[in-house]
Amino acid sequence: MLIEPLLTGHTIPKIGFGTWNIGGGMSPDYSQDARGLAAIRAALETGYTHFDTAEMYANGHTEELLARAIRETRTPREKLFLTTKVWTNHLRTPETIKACENSLRRLQTDYLDLYLIHWPGSVPLEDTVRALNDLTRRGLVRAVGVSNFDLPLLHRAQAACETPLVNNQVPYSLHHREYAQNGVLAYCQQNGIVLTAYTPVEKGRVGTNPGLQTLARKHGATPTQIALAWLIHQPRVITIPMSHNPAHILENFRAREVKLDEDDIKQLNALK
Ligand SMILES: NC(=O)c1ccc[n+]([C@@H]2O[C@H](COP(=O)([O-])OP(=O)(O)OC[C@H]3O[C@@H](n4cnc5c(N)ncnc54)[C@H](OP(=O)(O)O)[C@@H]3O)[C@@H](O)[C@H]2O)c1
Repeated sequence: MLIEPLLTGHTIPKIGFGTWNIGGGMSPDYSQDARGLAAIRAALETGYTHFDTAEMYANGHTEELLARAIRETRTPREKLFLTTKVWTNHLRTPETIKACENSLRRLQTDYLDLYLIHWPGSVPLEDTVRALNDLTRRGLVRAVGVSNFDLPLLHRAQAACETPLVNNQVPYSLHHREYAQNGVLAYCQQNGIVLTAYTPVEKGRVGTNPGLQTLARKHGATPTQIALAWLIHQPRVITIPMSHNPAHILENFRAREVKLDEDDIKQLNALK
């Protein structure tokens, strides 16, 4: 299955493209524009349609580069699923609304497919969700979600949200299963919430686990593809690997083609 349904009735691709570090880190690095644009263009040409970004990435510049690559490749907006996030300095109601409007302007679009609270902050959560409700009513945002939320916070966000909360984006990979252990994954799966696994290739290190070699050979795949396939095999789980390298961009996308069987899953579940 290459997509997951969202509680709003929309769908989200199982493998999307992460954009952290494209065009800078916490601040823009314009010397990296050509490299960042080439990476996003390669992702678009490979067939990725879900792009995950954030106002915090390169202080808004990553959103600008994403818009530029979409424009330059003449990719129709309706083919894309765009996710962005409000940062912790904009969690008061009017500031979240302004932050979203600024993201829309930088992304050169009139709606977001998914808008997330990037991290919980010190502002009462209900203030931020009030803004998400307003943005949804105005049609600027099709679906809303959160990121880095534990179970109590997830429940609180759901209670305040007028529309179904569709997504929690958390760190999740073969060697980092904290959000499976703390009950968030099971809760999402039982309640139709999509869990987006971030840092899924562990910055390139996941494939070095020798336990992946045999399965990789069995499937004619790479160890990294096996690690990604393990994630997306799980119901309600999607993922968003990032890369500047066109070979890795293709390799990660083609993890969709790996069909793991029950024995494979058992082995991977037990892998340390
Ligand atoms: N919500 C949050 O708080 C949060 C936090 C972190 C990340 N995220 C999102 O999740 C996305 C992915 O996470 P991430 O960027 O932290 O980590 P990641 O995708 O696990 O790792 C990216 C790094 O791995 C390397 N890589 C990618 N594919 C590879 C492959 N097939 N073989 C070898 N190396 C490979 C890349 O280097 P090359 O360029 O050399 O390929 C890149 O440096 C982010 O871009 C961002 O959109 C969200």
